[in-house]
Amino acid sequence: ESYDMGGHDTYMHKEIHEQVDAVDRVLRGRIDDRFATVRLGGLNLDAREARGVRRVKILGCGSAYHTGLIGAQLIEELARIPADAEPASEFRYRNPVVDPDTLYIAVSQSGETYDTLAAVQELKRKGARVLGVVNVVGSAIARETDGGVYVHAGPEVCVVSTKCFTNTAVAFALLALHLGRIRDLSVADGKRIIAGLRRLPEQIAEVLRGEEEIKRLAAEYANAKSMMFIGRVRGYPVAREASLKLKEVSYVHAEAYPASELKHGPLALIEPEVPTVAVLPDDDLLEKNRATLEEIKARSGRILAVAHQEQEKADHTIVVPRNEPELDPILMGVPLQLLAYHTALALGRDIDKPRNLAKSVTVE
Ligand code: AGP
Repeated sequence: ESYDMGGHDTYMHKEIHEQVDAVDRVLRGRIDDRFATVRLGGLNLDAREARGVRRVKILGCGSAYHTGLIGAQLIEELARIPADAEPASEFRYRNPVVDPDTLYIAVSQSGETYDTLAAVQELKRKGARVLGVVNVVGSAIARETDGGVYVHAGPEVCVVSTKCFTNTAVAFALLALHLGRIRDLSVADGKRIIAGLRRLPEQIAEVLRGEEEIKRLAAEYANAKSMMFIGRVRGYPVAREASLKLKEVSYVHAEAYPASELKHGPLALIEPEVPTVAVLPDDDLLEKNRATLEEIKARSGRILAVAHQEQEKADHTIVVPRNEPELDPILMGVPLQLLAYHTALALGRDIDKPRNLAKSVTVE
């Protein structure tokens, strides 16, 4: 994409709408239908090495870290390799144990974030294998890592990440599928995930067609004192990212919690002025999530659900199309980008350049 605004009032709006093409681009030329897998030319990790990986540790900051949370779940689900994500900024300061059988993955839009780069350099110094999941081609992190997957989101101008977040999550799905098919993921499951990935661009377009309704909801919730974002397992990273997005661009205070943690403390915050955004994929945790909604309702909390079907306990539901359960986090984040955008617009914020923030944090 060009730097031209293309008829949009802000880069954030433009970049949210570019996601249909961006996701198409990250998939293009990479799917191998014959073997129900993907080709990732720059990975630099052969099948024998991939089979030897005992753990995966993903490192990034901010939204990149949140895509790492999604990536870790995808790698565990599809490749059955224990995986987790950690803020790169924390990792580099805690003198981590570097394990030769762990595959480290640094994730970054700009490829220049100092904390992430410093974590990569520390890992390399200790002899670790580090891959990059990076958007900007030839950036410092892309150069310092041993190989990786380019995200192909195109230039992202708005300080607040949207299309790169989604494309990075898709890039992780590709990596997880690749690792899975080298290990124990069946051909049938490989085909199922590929079909789901191919459906994503049109499903994102469908979510974006619901923008007017989300704009109306944003106006309704814009005066909240604070917002609570909750989700269980696949829904949780989506809640984390949506909470960050809202904070960054609208300056509305927001918290994100695993839905199961609500009763361990944050439930005390619930009141009509503190609405909850609940991310509720139609998976085997739906009933548990519905029980959480009842607990919130019992405390007079307002609820905006993002789900695959209308939620009776919610005041409003944004219905998103169904895909394969493993891919739910990718699609469910998109309407919440629009919610953050329209909240910021309703409050008259400087959307592309929120106060106190820089696009990439290249200093300590
Ligand atoms: C995203 O909306 C943020 N502005 C921020 O959290 C960002 O994701 C973070 O600083 C990491 O940047 P990077 O992806 O360029 O490394």
